[in-house]
Amino acid sequence: MCGIVGYLGKRDALPVLMQGLKQLEYRGYDSSGIGIIYRKKIKVIKEKGKLVNLERKLSDNLSAKIGVAHTRWATHGGVTTENAHPHSGPEEKVIVVHNGIIDNYSRLKENLGKEGNSFLSETDSEVVAHLTEKYLDSGPEIAVSKALSQLKGTYGLLFLFRDHPDLIIAARNGSPLVIGIGKEEMFVASDAMAFAGYTQHAVFINDGEMVILSQNDYRIVNQQNLVIERDVEELEIERSNHSKNEFQHYLLKEIFEQPESVFRAIGRGGRLLPDFGTALLSGLNLEKRDFFDIKKIHIIAMGTAMYAGELGKFIMENLTRIPVEVSDASELCGINPIVDKNTLFFAVSQSGETRDTLAAVQEIQQKGGRVLGIVNTVGSTLARMTDGGVYIHAGSEISVASTKAFTNQVTILTLLALMIGRTRDISLSRGREIVSQLMSLPEKMEEILQRAEDLNVMAEFLKDYKSVLFLGRGINYPVAKEAALKLKEVSYIHAEAYSSGSLKHGPLALISEDMPSVFICTRGDSQEKIISHIQEVRARNGKVFVISNFDDDNLRDLADELFLVPQSDELLSPLLTIIPCQLLSYYTALKLGRDIDQPRNLAKSVTVD
Ligand code: F6R
Repeated sequence: MCGIVGYLGKRDALPVLMQGLKQLEYRGYDSSGIGIIYRKKIKVIKEKGKLVNLERKLSDNLSAKIGVAHTRWATHGGVTTENAHPHSGPEEKVIVVHNGIIDNYSRLKENLGKEGNSFLSETDSEVVAHLTEKYLDSGPEIAVSKALSQLKGTYGLLFLFRDHPDLIIAARNGSPLVIGIGKEEMFVASDAMAFAGYTQHAVFINDGEMVILSQNDYRIVNQQNLVIERDVEELEIERSNHSKNEFQHYLLKEIFEQPESVFRAIGRGGRLLPDFGTALLSGLNLEKRDFFDIKKIHIIAMGTAMYAGELGKFIMENLTRIPVEVSDASELCGINPIVDKNTLFFAVSQSGETRDTLAAVQEIQQKGGRVLGIVNTVGSTLARMTDGGVYIHAGSEISVASTKAFTNQVTILTLLALMIGRTRDISLSRGREIVSQLMSLPEKMEEILQRAEDLNVMAEFLKDYKSVLFLGRGINYPVAKEAALKLKEVSYIHAEAYSSGSLKHGPLALISEDMPSVFICTRGDSQEKIISHIQEVRARNGKVFVISNFDDDNLRDLADELFLVPQSDELLSPLLTIIPCQLLSYYTALKLGRDIDQPRNLAKSVTVD
């Protein structure tokens, strides 16, 4: 789960590679490294920790026209400088950066060890450099092919050769790889974002392919050594906006961006048709009449995107009356998913690179299923592999904890529900009501954000607990799950979500003065029930914090702290109630001095199994 980037061309390679790494840091930030050819030798500079540590180590008088670089999320081997990439062959004739996992590395390492090789790192990747160097007398291309033929596992690999200063070889199996074609320069990376701002011309590499790059040319070959011709794509990728503006953290900035990003999700109104009470999403590759054939919808995703899917289930079942299943993508492949022609699959992902989600999509497509993507990152693997889909237009999300992507995913699922629902179930007037509620969301979100700092009071309490329960019923239950995930991620406080109805079936035993509860309680059929659940917690000395959209004397009396959000249709209430939950996690983590934008052990995108 790492980011790789390579450059060769007319520019100074170091700033280009550093810029690429900054764009790729979302894939891991345990360590990073750069390898260049400098004065006819390979020079490797690497350092553990954040990218700034590597940046400090680069001296100004180094310059090169070719290089490869890596940002790491540790899988094999601890977080040390030795385990950082690039890794070199024994005689430093070749270096390698690797994204993926070589499953059979121990056996390869053992064999190479018997031949006299000794290793400097604990990684699986170092064996690839050793193997390639072993065959180097046959020339770089054959050496790489021979090494690849012995590897089992997943890889996106870049190779740099001491004696070939105008050559990078890249190879892909199961980890993304894309080339960027500039004028007298070439880029290659795990994600086109790495060369955003330099070139828009990209060629995506498929599994089993190897690319031979020189400054003015590239050649793609497959495992049979046949040359592959592939169209060059024009990508509209903008460099991530790395400015925090007036905000201390990206997380807070992104929470505050939600009114604007939700406005973009509804196409600044253009994706909504108020007169017809419906939505219009192009790119689905479906005709309206196809909606009649849908007997089931199946949403697959991981983490926050999956909780967006759970809200999608609630909203879609309500508006379309089609049964919706939501699956943790990592579980789906293992259970041999049921695929049939009347099930429409949606894969939801911010990055579009989550390995488990991609693997599930592959399996479903392999069985003949139709999968549509709900994706943020333009040109990502998921966006390209699905049979159609919708971009959520959240803009680049840099904080590891996802916020604005979540609200945009839920918004898009609502638009889809509206679009399908209007052909099958709901009336024009109900459709118009939803459209008008969607239009009013940004303003309501703004209203909450103006009172953001009020959440500091709850955060001041929460920061001193070891564990917190988040409770909700119906549509509020997935909100509680997402809220618990946010708190865990950024504050490292243990948090769990339950449906408040399930409290008496076990979790109530946890309630005491040491275990606070945050209730998400909105106006609707179950509001009385939730109030009685709050009473049960209070009766057992549990502290109670409430996020609600109705002001009720009873609720005010019962809650230690109450935060109100504006009223809305029940189906859209999660888009408002989640905002105070996100802010609560942020302020709690801030008070605890956590590394808010890059929490320990995590990476923005999980690109390994
Ligand atoms: C939590 C978070 C993760 C991601 C999950 C899926 O804040 O960000 O749980 O939601 O890793 O990532 P994507 O959406 O990129 O597929």
